[in-house]
Amino acid sequence: MLSLESFFSKFFKKKNLTGQTAMINLILFGPPGSGKGTQAAQLVEKYNLLHISTGDLFRSEIGNKTALGIEAKSYMDKGALVPDEVTINMLKKKVKENPDVKGYIFDGFPRTIPQAEALDTMLMADGQAITSLVTLNVDDEEIVARLLNRAKTSGRSDDANEGVIRNRLSVYKETTAVVARHYDKKDKTHTINGVGTIDEVFGRLTEVIDRALVAV
Ligand code: AP5
Ligand code: MG
Repeated sequence: MLSLESFFSKFFKKKNLTGQTAMINLILFGPPGSGKGTQAAQLVEKYNLLHISTGDLFRSEIGNKTALGIEAKSYMDKGALVPDEVTINMLKKKVKENPDVKGYIFDGFPRTIPQAEALDTMLMADGQAITSLVTLNVDDEEIVARLLNRAKTSGRSDDANEGVIRNRLSVYKETTAVVARHYDKKDKTHTINGVGTIDEVFGRLTEVIDRALVAV
């Protein structure tokens, strides 16, 4: 059965309940090193969306030696999450700076239930919502190999130490994975195999996203 939101979208040319054009808001989800950033770079071209990676935003703050960057670095170096309040405020600022976009690809956000709730509330205030969450499924050993390999060139302190990588994986399992279930209740989640060539994974992703967009 059509939800009320879908009904209005279909009959009012994809307008949402407040009369604004419905945005495409995707969450690219998955453990560290699963390929979120790599795939997002290609997805923004295909769907003409804005890519927002909270990890990239933090690294830019670190590069600029801001107070926010210095605070974030103390958590990132250990593979721990930066506190919700700091992260949510940074994300909201980035969204507010870019209002005239077709939609967003959120990468590395939300990572906790309070972050997901804050995102939902922020989107809802503009009559928008998350369109779809897609998880890239990659096993731990492949991830450790990918990130140790990237450490040779990335300069990322959280890639250089296997213990930190494994801590990032634990944080994902213990705190972040549950965020997918938050959106599952709304029938918006999909999981794809994230192992294969970058083009193979991109093909799987776009198949799922295209189907989700038809269903909006
Ligand atoms: P963040 O920057 O988000 O890092 P991450 O989630 O740990 O994931 P990565 O960016 O390392 O991996 P990715 O999934 O983007 O994969 P990528 O495409 O790069 O977060 C870093 C830290 O910031 C966190 O630990 C936390 O401290 C803090 N933080 C960020 N967001 C936060 C939030 N919301 N709340 C609180 N704290 C937050 O690929 C990885 C490697 O694999 C690359 O070398 C790539 O070339 C390679 N690769 C990609 N695809 C393939 C493929 N198909 N086959 C083989 N290799 C591949
Ligand atoms: Mg990334």
